[in-house]
Amino acid sequence: MDGNGRWAAARGRPRGFGHKAGVEAVRKTVRAAGELGIRHLTLYAFSSENWSRPPSEVRDLLGLMRLFITRDLAELCANGVCIRILGNREGLSPDILGLIETAETKSRHNTALNLNIAFNYGGRDEICRAFAVLAARYAAEGRDPNDISEVEISEALDTAGQPDPDLVIRTSGEIRLSNFMLWQAAYSEFVFLPCMWPDFDRSWLQKALDEYSSRSRRYGGVPAAKDVAL
Ligand code: FPP
Repeated sequence: MDGNGRWAAARGRPRGFGHKAGVEAVRKTVRAAGELGIRHLTLYAFSSENWSRPPSEVRDLLGLMRLFITRDLAELCANGVCIRILGNREGLSPDILGLIETAETKSRHNTALNLNIAFNYGGRDEICRAFAVLAARYAAEGRDPNDISEVEISEALDTAGQPDPDLVIRTSGEIRLSNFMLWQAAYSEFVFLPCMWPDFDRSWLQKALDEYSSRSRRYGGVPAAKDVAL
């Protein structure tokens, strides 16, 4: 969800104004995803590197996260949204931890849309935490580390039990991954859009899906017979 700061600057407003508008785009996107039949949606809300931003901006972002969960949880639940927060929980303040647990617990039986919010998330950090869990388990069980499988690693990540993303969308024209789902995105399709995140809506999502539909996914193999142009 990139471009909040530039969107605000273009309007002569502080960065926090852009983040606030970004939450509106989050609401629209979650609604549109449900309507378009998307079953899994992950929003990258706060990276493990975002703590290095000015304290006032970090405060704004944490405040928006708190507000989003307290204000929107009931409506999300009513719409069948199951919420999971990805990321490192160590060191988070007790109030944020409480909100995360409430959101996950109250929405856990919902099945219409799985909404992941990546918060204090970094792909490398996630992989390090998964490796620590696996190393401890293997040592405790006296198992051979050569037996570690890709499935076991996937199941030790924050996204355990979920499919890998088919499509990764980044807004604002930047063309990089910025530590997002490094393991899970191995075979994802990428769409980079010129719009700033606060302007993202159902029509931009549809554009990204149309672009995705035109791709041929080969997973390192050869095109499926139906994809071969004759
Ligand atoms: C990147 O744009 C965006 C972020 C670091 C924060 C994204 C957060 C929100 C949209 C609001 C909170 C989210 C939820 C789910 C409640 P940037 O600020 O780096 O933009 P810039 O590159 O133009 O400066």
